[in-house]
Amino acid sequence: MAKIIITIDGPAGSGKSTIASLVAQRLGVTFLDTGAMYRAVTLAAMQQDVNLADEEQLSNVLNQNAFEFVPQKDTIQVHLNDVDVTDSIRTPDVTANSKFIAASPKIREKLVKMQRDFASTRNGIVTEGRDQGTVAFPDADVKIFLTASLEERSRRRQNQPQNQGGGGQIEQIKETINHRDACDKNRSTGPLIPAEDAITLDTTNMNIEQVVETILQIVEEKNQC
Ligand code: DC
Repeated sequence: MAKIIITIDGPAGSGKSTIASLVAQRLGVTFLDTGAMYRAVTLAAMQQDVNLADEEQLSNVLNQNAFEFVPQKDTIQVHLNDVDVTDSIRTPDVTANSKFIAASPKIREKLVKMQRDFASTRNGIVTEGRDQGTVAFPDADVKIFLTASLEERSRRRQNQPQNQGGGGQIEQIKETINHRDACDKNRSTGPLIPAEDAITLDTTNMNIEQVVETILQIVEEKNQC
């Protein structure tokens, strides 16, 4: 197979990471979790106590710290200045503050470049995020937009292991996800919208295996064209 690029975008809790990593494993290509990149910059900014609303300061955070993203089978290991922060980027504080980093056009531009550079060194990638099909990889071979009802996404988030942001009260989780949806959809750069040529999958009533199989079938059909 030629170097394949599959993008999986969608709102928080839609199952992007789980699905993208499984699809990547089945195809023998690399899984890229771009949310981990925004989270790593958020953590660095918090550690340096910078003003999260200040574009210039945020840009410096990216330039003055060493970020390393090491893809694993079903996750991405993140190093910040040689310290493993894979778990620390999943705390509720980092999740809440990531909206400032995600809204910064300068940060987005640099992270999109890092994502493209990353893809160019791999045999193929399944990359997940919010803007992968629209901005980062507009020429991707297959673009998927994953959705699920707010109730279902909240339940899934609650059931995740605690070190991945799981647990908590369902009403509180719903409120948090609702707020994150609004921030993701309404920012001016790289907002959460399906690419025109994306295939939307509503996974509310689908299990993980069904979603993975559906995507693999779409990839297969694409390869026959
Ligand atoms: O998917 P996640 O919860 O790990 O994303 C963390 C943050 O990064 C969240 O605020 C959305 C943002 N994000 C983004 O703006 N663009 C991406 N491609 C990936 C994530």
